[in-house]
Amino acid sequence: MGGFERNEMKQSTITIKKGSDLSKNELDIIAKANVKNFTVKCKDYDEEIRLLKEEEGESIFFFVKDGSRVVSLGLLKPIKIKYLGKNYNFLGIGNIISIEKGKGYGTILMKEILRYLKEKNITGIGFSRSEIIDFYRKAGFMTSWGLKRRFFYDYGDKEKNKSIVKKRYGIYFDGRDKLVSKLLKTKIIVKIPCGHW
Ligand SMILES: CC(C)(COP(=O)(O)OP(=O)(O)OC[C@H]1O[C@@H](n2cnc3c(N)ncnc32)[C@H](O)[C@@H]1OP(=O)(O)O)[C@@H](O)C(=O)NCCC(=O)NCCS
Repeated sequence: MGGFERNEMKQSTITIKKGSDLSKNELDIIAKANVKNFTVKCKDYDEEIRLLKEEEGESIFFFVKDGSRVVSLGLLKPIKIKYLGKNYNFLGIGNIISIEKGKGYGTILMKEILRYLKEKNITGIGFSRSEIIDFYRKAGFMTSWGLKRRFFYDYGDKEKNKSIVKKRYGIYFDGRDKLVSKLLKTKIIVKIPCGHW
């Protein structure tokens, strides 16, 4: 996959790329942005580079550029879950960062991610702190309080398994499988078969 570019506004361009196709420069931009913005979870630059290379090869990265500068970025990560005996594939929304904040670049990014999900009609799910939930709503995402604590990461250890996704709101687009509507009909906790998203 060689990537895809499109003019969004007068000066903004969107680039969409698979993780395995990221250049050294792009990996550097993401790792630096992660360390700077996710100070609790992402402390170490080299570790971020390793995780990007080892775990995000299949993820789809979105870059908003102003000229040649990357001004915001995010990803969609393919995730497979089993729910009520059936397999579902959806895209986990994550790594949402505006490098230049407060200029509308985050909104351009989220609208592009939503457009991508709608075009493919595939479910996308992410999580957000309540303080920034309006940011996602304004970009057109659905939000759900009920999605919190509905997922857990399986580390094969009872104590560690408590790391349930507990950020307050789910943000989502419900695709053709209507996965989120189905999830919200029960209280079953769903296992996530990856380290994080
Ligand atoms: C959240 C984030 C991506 C927003 O990007 P941004 O480019 O600054 O957002 P925009 O300029 O497009 O703002 C769009 C709207 O969201 C609101 N908003 C943006 N960031 C906000 C924040 N941190 N808290 C509350 N509201 C926020 C703005 O008020 C704005 O509304 P307005 O147009 O009516 O003024 C950016 O603040 C960021 O990178 N944060 C650090 C990383 C992070 O927390 N990512 C989200 C993980 S869930």
